[in-house]
Amino acid sequence: MEQNSTPTGTKKACVIGGTGNLASILIKHLLQSGYKVNTTVRDPENEKKMAPLRLLQELGDLKIFKADLTDEGSFDSAFSGCEYIFHVATPINFKSEDPEKDMIKPAIEGVINVLKSCVKSKSVKRVIYTSSAAAVSINNLSGSGLVMNEKNWTDIDFLRKEKPFNWGYPVSKMLAEKTAWEFAKENNIDLVTVIPALIAGNSLLSDPPSSLSLSMSLITGKEMHLTALKEMQKLSGSISFIHVDDLARAHLFLAEKETASGRYICCGYNTSVPATAGFLRQRYPKYKVVSEFEECLSIPKVMLSSVKLIMKEGFQFEYGIKDMYDQMIEYFESKGLIKAEDS
Ligand SMILES: NC(=O)c1ccc[n+]([C@@H]2O[C@H](COP(=O)([O-])OP(=O)(O)OC[C@H]3O[C@@H](n4cnc5c(N)ncnc54)[C@H](OP(=O)(O)O)[C@@H]3O)[C@@H](O)[C@H]2O)c1
Repeated sequence: MEQNSTPTGTKKACVIGGTGNLASILIKHLLQSGYKVNTTVRDPENEKKMAPLRLLQELGDLKIFKADLTDEGSFDSAFSGCEYIFHVATPINFKSEDPEKDMIKPAIEGVINVLKSCVKSKSVKRVIYTSSAAAVSINNLSGSGLVMNEKNWTDIDFLRKEKPFNWGYPVSKMLAEKTAWEFAKENNIDLVTVIPALIAGNSLLSDPPSSLSLSMSLITGKEMHLTALKEMQKLSGSISFIHVDDLARAHLFLAEKETASGRYICCGYNTSVPATAGFLRQRYPKYKVVSEFEECLSIPKVMLSSVKLIMKEGFQFEYGIKDMYDQMIEYFESKGLIKAEDS
């Protein structure tokens, strides 16, 4: 891992869920910006999951704590002396037969436990909660060209009634974010929420994160991920991407920008499954690209808007769709997970 010349400063932040894809990249950005970083993990004995964090420790002052979203008080020591708390972790269990118990309840409980520890802390200035586009854009509206911004909330009555594919995840993200806003208001906590589109680009993890597997399923052809990608477009109205480095930079930017407030959508590129397949076929002709798209329309129903982040706050994304896929192709090639047609 490349060494950083920035000296470690006095600013200190905590990232919850350091074993995650976005969290590990956020930790890298924080260390490279001179922060002392605390991170929490559920199982510090899991050496495979700890390996990227051990490498990140070479970049600066990174301390690892054990904590669980469902364990009240377990974040207290990790938050000690921290100005910013990045609540990035989320309970994910797509195979669950009881999403209310396995995803929704722990996500809500997690937000409350994290914020309770913030209330106890003397140092925390702002909490940055990572929500999801899944908390914004899911509804049963028809039409096309619908622009979704920070005023929109996913229709969870529709999700709970119809129970479409993976319905528990969007419900968990929407209710966890709502809970965060309510708790923050009642307890006078400075909260900002970041709303990412599908996370794309590079990764520090040794196994491909699920979001990269979804994006790459048009080339890997992996049925489970391909189905999830198509269902994502059918349910949320688009395939919308954000590069993980842009997203991590946006988290830090919104923590440090005193006047930032409310929700911020982070979306670098809106598209559809068929349009993405067309792009991949043209850019990477050596790979076979899936060509069956079922009911996925070429023109997405929905566009996620990052106008607030870009125009109001002056943040700029650095990566486009080409960079995102170039890096994912490189990652999958390096792991031997994709092969060219003629090799
Ligand atoms: N991936 C996307 O495309 C996407 C899109 C929009 C929003 N988001 C949001 O962005 C955030 C990061 O996503 P990601 O894809 O980087 O996540 P990820 O790689 O799946 O990581 C999830 C993290 O949450 C931790 N976690 C799960 N249950 C926990 C619990 N009970 N207590 C403590 N930690 C727990 C996991 O720990 P273990 O390693 O111990 O399991 C892991 O570190 C999430 O909030 C997600 O909802 C993601």
